[in-house]
Amino acid sequence: MNADLLADAGGTARWVERLGPGTVVLRGFAGETAAAIWAAVGRLTKLAPFRQMQTPGGFRMSVAMSNCGEVGWVTDPAGYRYAERDPDSGRPWPAMPELFRQLAATAASAAGFADFVPDACLINRYAVGARMSRHQDRDERDLTQPIVSLSLGLPAVFLFGGGQRSDAAVRVTLTHGDVVVWGGPDRLRYHGVLAIKPGEHPLLGACRVNLTFRKAR
Ligand code: SIN
Ligand code: FE2
Repeated sequence: MNADLLADAGGTARWVERLGPGTVVLRGFAGETAAAIWAAVGRLTKLAPFRQMQTPGGFRMSVAMSNCGEVGWVTDPAGYRYAERDPDSGRPWPAMPELFRQLAATAASAAGFADFVPDACLINRYAVGARMSRHQDRDERDLTQPIVSLSLGLPAVFLFGGGQRSDAAVRVTLTHGDVVVWGGPDRLRYHGVLAIKPGEHPLLGACRVNLTFRKAR
């Protein structure tokens, strides 16, 4: 691993926005590291290509997904779960790059969650028009561990709601390099992403990619 990149993954937010007692948006936190992370996503998704999974209700998601880490989040008609193997290839998910782990840990720590060691990274690719409906992240065993979410590429409107699906949500525009961390009392807040608007990002082109780092097991 390139030592300069690792040092850079120490990350400094350009500014911080608090969305709740356990939630912050670290603006521009990924900084220069975003390009290296995007390059790594290219390598990882050669091994475990993006695919549009099916929900338990039988709908195909508009977001295409892949994973890296010891386990990966999957959905199919049998339900949502973490799986040690890519169901498409039968092989283990690609290992999580040290750079990812480092970025996630420094972001968690900046948000007040010490010693975060993610074992799963869900990689979401949103084409223009793709969206994610409101949901809770609740398939992880230890809910004292936060979720760390990095946005790359085209901007997205992130909806951050409350503990009930019907609670009002705040709208936060997330752009390239922004990191959101939520945990503690906010760990089970509903969240989603509005349909991505057409655009062209200098690095990613006409798409948005979001990485969420989790301690799943
Ligand atoms: C997710 O909730 O898994 C993704 C959130 C995002 O794309 O910002
Ligand atoms: Fe989520």
